[in-house]
Amino acid sequence: MKGSKHPKNDLTVNPSGNESILDVIARVDVTRRRFVQGSAGAGMLAAAGGLTLSGVVNAMEGHHPRHHHHKPVGIGFDGIPPSLALDGIKNVVDEVRVPDGYTANLLVAWGDPIVRGGVAYKADASNTAAEQAKQYGMHTDGMHFFPFANRGFGEGYRSDCGVLCANNEYTHEEVLFTDGQVGAGYTIEKCRKSQAAHGVSILEVNRTRNKWLIDSRSIYGRRITANTPMRISGPAAGHALMKTNEYDIQSNGSFPSGKTTNGFSARGTINNCANGITPWGTYLTCEENWNGNFGASAALPAVTTEAGKLYNRYGVTKDGFGYRWHTVDPRFDLAVNPNETNHFGWVVEIDPFDPAALPVKRTALGRIKHESAQYVVDANEHVAFYMGDDERNEYIYKFVCAKKFNKRNMRANRDMLDKGTLYVARFNADLSGQWIALTPDTVGLDGVALRNNPNFVGADDAEVLAKILIKTRMAADAVGATMMDRPEWTGARPRNRGFDEIEVYCTLTNNNRRGSSATPSSNKADGSTTAASARPAVDAANPREDNIYGHIIRWREDDQSVLATTFTWDIFVQAGDVSTTKTAKPTNDYKGNIVDSPDGSADLGAPDGLWFDWFGRLWVQTDQVGDGSGDWINIGANSLSCADPETKQFRRFLTGPNKCEVTGISMTPDGKTLFVGIQHPGEDSTAANPTLYSNWPASQWEKRADGVTPLPGGRPRSAVVVITKDDGGIIGA
Ligand code: FEO
Ligand code: CA
Ligand code: CA
Repeated sequence: MKGSKHPKNDLTVNPSGNESILDVIARVDVTRRRFVQGSAGAGMLAAAGGLTLSGVVNAMEGHHPRHHHHKPVGIGFDGIPPSLALDGIKNVVDEVRVPDGYTANLLVAWGDPIVRGGVAYKADASNTAAEQAKQYGMHTDGMHFFPFANRGFGEGYRSDCGVLCANNEYTHEEVLFTDGQVGAGYTIEKCRKSQAAHGVSILEVNRTRNKWLIDSRSIYGRRITANTPMRISGPAAGHALMKTNEYDIQSNGSFPSGKTTNGFSARGTINNCANGITPWGTYLTCEENWNGNFGASAALPAVTTEAGKLYNRYGVTKDGFGYRWHTVDPRFDLAVNPNETNHFGWVVEIDPFDPAALPVKRTALGRIKHESAQYVVDANEHVAFYMGDDERNEYIYKFVCAKKFNKRNMRANRDMLDKGTLYVARFNADLSGQWIALTPDTVGLDGVALRNNPNFVGADDAEVLAKILIKTRMAADAVGATMMDRPEWTGARPRNRGFDEIEVYCTLTNNNRRGSSATPSSNKADGSTTAASARPAVDAANPREDNIYGHIIRWREDDQSVLATTFTWDIFVQAGDVSTTKTAKPTNDYKGNIVDSPDGSADLGAPDGLWFDWFGRLWVQTDQVGDGSGDWINIGANSLSCADPETKQFRRFLTGPNKCEVTGISMTPDGKTLFVGIQHPGEDSTAANPTLYSNWPASQWEKRADGVTPLPGGRPRSAVVVITKDDGGIIGA
């Protein structure tokens, strides 16, 4: 039994600077040696003289606390056993479990009022669309806690109150409506409720008498939904492909106003998966599987047309994922509003402290299925954002801002995301890599500069760039980027006085179309491949055939600069199950190679969420079926683990309820409160029986965190849990 392998508490994040990458070094050439040398003797957590939080407070007015790193605290908790299927076949215990000495509480769940005037969640899902628009959205995902300042307004360093920004990725229509999506027919009211449950939830949270509660009357409370007005900025703004029909969304129906947008305005954000933040204190929400929310009342244009090619490359189809928005809301009907898809697939910037500010779609960062956006500010104050495109055989990108970061005047950074260069990654077999600029000058595999490629031709280079950004995937195809095993979150290892490298990690969650075909194929250089249809052979960066369990890759920028166009890389770990009985493929054994003690005690699969805390510890969240069945019989429920980037040692910190995904993580500046997202508990349950697989969080708690308010059951609810250590100490230490 895995449970008997419960590891003991003897692990600290390695402060010695011992080179975990040395095994790679032994095989490297001069280029790769850089990768190694940079960290030799540089145990990042040694952090001699590392700033403590209190040393930062007030001394750095206007400077961001996230630029500072705290003294290492190590990994000091007892890893918990996997949450295995209760009957040995399927369905795990329907609760969140954390190590002894820690307490998890419910903070906010789908349907909780978070905006002034919001009404309480109704357990039969009879809340209206208008009510949902003031309640926490469904299917929570990436998030960030923005602490309040000690004095005045805006962001500061407090650890007892702040604004939580959280993504609401998608909806489970069978749970969202009393009678399910199709019960009494599909109506504009249902559509509007579904749209209102998507987007971003912004809420004030406070710790009072050691209880974290939400303030549903806060001036910061805000919902950003599929219908919220927003601005489009950057090189693609205003392009003809960005001009759409304008609709009167206030009406009960949805009636065209007969006008077109000018390409500088949009409505709504959807499929907000993981997130990012900026060094100037804003929140980034990333639009992932937006294609699935569209449909068409007539046949889509042929793939030979410009629109047809785009639909094909981004997976837009006539019926989408089964949402019916397009049947009642013509904005999402491609037969009448064909360019609306081009308003999605962006990174959207939101000011958490200004509820009146329009969110901004930043087109300079490219249009893909954005998973997350991790920033790095280098020693010269240059800024880059690292991003994955989460679909099988898609790519890893970085955006480098043209301007330097101004750490003395946050407002001066406001439009940093509008000017810069977007790059896509190529990973070479010798562990070197290139960042290939997606600019008009770049010459593609066919020997033709992108400005002369028929997919991007324009009146001038400004228009060429606009088209490159709207058709980012096709531009990346043209220049020969490396197809990856579903790039999910990116995370940057904190730098401090002991560790100066720019080292970025990316989860490659899984890929069942990798190397498992006798007839491998690639994304075609002319951008005509149907989304996720390629079946590439294994390569150095994606070495596992039929990659069920996924892996985590990392790279270091040459010259410790985000401007670098070359990097070195290695695979941090392959996830897997040491006890698997699954038949090995020629190029892999599915056992994985994380370091855990006893061996197998911290096994995980399908790594997805990935985040470095202020103490240099790597947190990894997983997204697999989550019921302990099949390939997950020894791994069990989805989980959150803590890992040491030097030694690759993992410990399991949290297991989730049945058929949930664990996604979204943030921490207070003092490290004493951890926020974790639990998404889609009871996934796939039916409208007739919403609690078929899960009744979480009611299955775990009878009362809200205030200890008074009853917590109704009746259907599973995605939610954020708040975790504290019973002795008041730093989480995980
Ligand atoms: Fe929404 Fe790629 O996870
Ligand atoms: Ca994800
Ligand atoms: Ca995922």
